[in-house]
Amino acid sequence: MNRKYRNTVIAANWKMNMLPSQVKAYAGELKALTAQSKWCDIVVCPSFVMLPAVHKAFRDCRIGTGAQNMSENEKGAFTGEVSAEQLVDLDIHYVILGHSERRQLYGETDLTVNKKVLAALNTNLRPIICVGESLLEREMGVTAERVTLQVKSALSGVPLTKMRRVIIAYEPIWAIGTGKTATSAEAGEVCNNIRAIIRNLYGARTSRAVTILYGGSMNAKNARELLSQPDIDGGLIGSASLSPSEFAQIVDAANQDNA
Ligand code: 13P
Repeated sequence: MNRKYRNTVIAANWKMNMLPSQVKAYAGELKALTAQSKWCDIVVCPSFVMLPAVHKAFRDCRIGTGAQNMSENEKGAFTGEVSAEQLVDLDIHYVILGHSERRQLYGETDLTVNKKVLAALNTNLRPIICVGESLLEREMGVTAERVTLQVKSALSGVPLTKMRRVIIAYEPIWAIGTGKTATSAEAGEVCNNIRAIIRNLYGARTSRAVTILYGGSMNAKNARELLSQPDIDGGLIGSASLSPSEFAQIVDAANQDNA
């Protein structure tokens, strides 16, 4: 982390877990456990059906709410889709885009992700853009190329003035939900590369200000070590975010490091 230049963000990606009836208890516990959190922005991203309840539950504190996906289209005949404007109307501030599960299971391409990023930035939403290589790509030694392609295509057409609202999450696919974490050095190196790409595209000042997260089996035990890397500014947490106490311990780790 480097708090001098950018915000630390710890975000929960609940994926398709939790029930609307569980939101109140979760929020009560998380609020109590993170009341002292000073240095990090906390975001909770539930399924669409729970967005209003989560937003309401955190209305009286600084914990933000995010969606896990949205349509690249503005409005109209797109049955089953949710637009950026609809999220903004609910006062939602963040949206996860291009998660590897969306790319692998629902056929999202770099082009779709780019359209969604542009649509999100056309409103006040802050996109959390997920990138990351597969196990095969890592073994073939093409991690840097894969991640560079994903970052550059996601940012195609994004103007300098909107870049500071962008958050990038490096999530190696082989580390998601597997219990295998990238070593802090491996994760730090890729996040450093991502910042270098942003520097080439937008200049040093902007690249210093962009928050880059790590995601993939991050938990209360390994958070501190991962967050000690200068270019890892927070985490996107799946399984470990389903327990308010474990998630709060990750928030603690992010608050303690004085980098
Ligand atoms: P896990 O923390 O369960 O590995 O999931 C990471 C992730 O995909 C967050 O978006």
